[in-house]
Amino acid sequence: MLVLLFVPLFILALVKKLLTPKRTKNIDKKHVVITGGSSGIGRCVAILAARKGANVTIIARNLEKLSKAEKEIKEACIYKDQIISSVSVDVSNQQSIQKEITKLEESVGPIYMLVNCAGMAICGKVEDFDEEGVKTLINVNYLGTLYPIQSVIPKFKERQDGIIVLTGSQVSLMGMFGYSIYASCKFALRGLAESIYMELKPYNISVTLALPPDTDTPGFEIENKTKPQETKLISEAGGLVQPETVAEKLLQDALVIIF
Ligand SMILES: *[C@@H]1O[C@H](CO)[C@@H](O)[C@H](O)[C@H]1NC(C)=O
Ligand SMILES: *[C@@H]1O[C@H](CO)[C@@H](O)[C@H](O)[C@H]1NC(C)=O
Ligand SMILES: *[C@@H]1O[C@H](CO)[C@@H](O)[C@H](O)[C@H]1NC(C)=O
Repeated sequence: MLVLLFVPLFILALVKKLLTPKRTKNIDKKHVVITGGSSGIGRCVAILAARKGANVTIIARNLEKLSKAEKEIKEACIYKDQIISSVSVDVSNQQSIQKEITKLEESVGPIYMLVNCAGMAICGKVEDFDEEGVKTLINVNYLGTLYPIQSVIPKFKERQDGIIVLTGSQVSLMGMFGYSIYASCKFALRGLAESIYMELKPYNISVTLALPPDTDTPGFEIENKTKPQETKLISEAGGLVQPETVAEKLLQDALVIIF
């Protein structure tokens, strides 16, 4: 009998939850750090964050691309005193990234959100990868996400507040011809995201994993050049999404308050 009463109540509660607009976190005047922020999805996330009033720091290696992106991000600012800065560092070097994160907390302000967009794909059949290619992919995609995350966690825990975004891929969920090494790295990011989600939840720190499809970025152009014919045939069927679209969804998902 009791069950008969609870089921409609549960459905009512669910409908009410689905109909009420989702509450979202605010990044206005907060410090948002974006790795891989000089191009592609990262650059679009940085521009959106600036439009939302955040102090934005982009991290990448290439100085020229950094300063070009920094200018574009500044143009998106809504306040005169918004701080937009860029740091050139190798995210796959644990000590260097730790040092830069510490410096940024002092020079700009406490970091509220870390968006990991640094990444790259090289395609090819598994037996054709040399050691350098394998290590490059592991460094950039896996270690280059792990180390920035490790660097922000102590302060996030202290403040009981913070947002971490990892950028996986659709090949985080399903392997694909020509993507053996890249997909392994993106699977690893999913394992990392799911584990730290549990570790950080008691500290009021949120973790989300974005799973974008093929996106129209400079990185994708390079990836396209290394694609075996078979991979091209499979991926061309999927089409290409614009980085602005991915960035918007990534931010929206990271900022929604679930409960
Ligand atoms: C953001 O920038 C403003 C204006 O320069 C500064 O006063 C504030 O301390 C910064 N806050 C954070 C969290 O970075
Ligand atoms: C938890 O995080 C939210 C969103 O970032 C923040 O508004 C709130 O103040 C935090 N709560 C505590 C107890 O620190
Ligand atoms: C990928 O490369 C092929 C040629 O190998 C080309 O036809 C195609 O337009 C390229 N796609 C993109 C999105 O660059």
